[in-house]
Amino acid sequence: MKLFDVYPINDINIVKAKGAKVWDDKEQEYLDMYGGHAVISIGHTHPHYVKRITDQLNKIAFYSNSIRIPLQQQLAEKLGTVSGKEDYQLFLCNSGAEANENALKLTSFHTGRKKIIAFSKSFHGRTSLAVAATDNPAIVAPVNETDNVVFLPFNDEVTLENYFVAHGTDIAAVIIEGIQGVGGIVEATPLFLQTIRTVCNEYGAVFIADSVQCGYGRTGKFFSHDHAGVNADVYSMAKGMGNGFPIGGILVAPHIKPKYGMLGTTFGGNHLACAAALAVLEVIEAEQLLQNAESVGQHLMNGLKQMPLIKNVRGKGLMIGFDVPEDFKDLRKNLLFRQHIFTGEAKPNVVRLLPSLALTIEEADMFLTALSKELKQVPVS
Ligand SMILES: Cc1ncc(COP(=O)(O)O)c(C=O)c1O
Repeated sequence: MKLFDVYPINDINIVKAKGAKVWDDKEQEYLDMYGGHAVISIGHTHPHYVKRITDQLNKIAFYSNSIRIPLQQQLAEKLGTVSGKEDYQLFLCNSGAEANENALKLTSFHTGRKKIIAFSKSFHGRTSLAVAATDNPAIVAPVNETDNVVFLPFNDEVTLENYFVAHGTDIAAVIIEGIQGVGGIVEATPLFLQTIRTVCNEYGAVFIADSVQCGYGRTGKFFSHDHAGVNADVYSMAKGMGNGFPIGGILVAPHIKPKYGMLGTTFGGNHLACAAALAVLEVIEAEQLLQNAESVGQHLMNGLKQMPLIKNVRGKGLMIGFDVPEDFKDLRKNLLFRQHIFTGEAKPNVVRLLPSLALTIEEADMFLTALSKELKQVPVS
């Protein structure tokens, strides 16, 4: 049987990983500045993480949500402490798309309304409503097309306010990434996030903070929306939550009330996933990884800003983007195959850095040195 060929891949077989380093089957070492697509939060194969999952696997890996699973409550409590959203409620699922799908569905149940506001260049996942709220027609199948989602321009308070004045009582939710990831590392301004909070309050709509990529400490605060000093009603999470173990979830504000059967999943919140997620939070706390993301991220940004060929360095913490000149369109490929460094991309010419939150200053410097070497090379045309 062949694999269903949907991913353009690099011909590299990674067989081992530790911290911010990975090794291929020829024992070549790579620096992982991509974090496996913003997933590796505490570093690859962290010993505490490996032990907690292994211990759990030897006890029980899975039982359904028809029984009490104390690990879920432990996870909810730890998440409340580390995120500072202690009075929120936790619903567990398995991925980012699923988290947003549940968030959007929940807001419709809660408000009895149908309209969702999303923004230009947003990415919220590939399931039906999540993809309908994603601003990329190429990945929206005909069956996912719906008039229930309206796209407004990103960071435009006036258009948003006017839309609410005209249609406010039809709107179930506004969904927004604090920093757009797939869209090219574009930050929502504090004023825009504060305006969303205000209009949602005024019209009884729900504010959903998609924190799948920009959340879980990546920007130096637990949720990137926290930088604007606003609380959302629902936070969606995945990626860094399990450091590679598939787990997602939503945090739901106390005024949104649950009902039996409203949401549900077979695998969400299983014993093994909860053990992985607890290990992640324990390491984030013990190793002060939010502070590390902030300081190492600042160091990286300072270094990048000193490179004249690199433009528009932006982001927060360890979610960083920069523009590469046209002449260096092969930069990412050259970083990978000549310098042995993984990075992320956003079309057309953005390099995205999404490394482990435990990245060290030395590793950041390795990247900066390799990057400046590549920029001195003759551009590949
Ligand atoms: C902001 C955002 N939301 C949702 C998703 C979807 O997450 P998943 O691929 O786990 O379904 C992603 C994935 O890249 C994302 O970046």
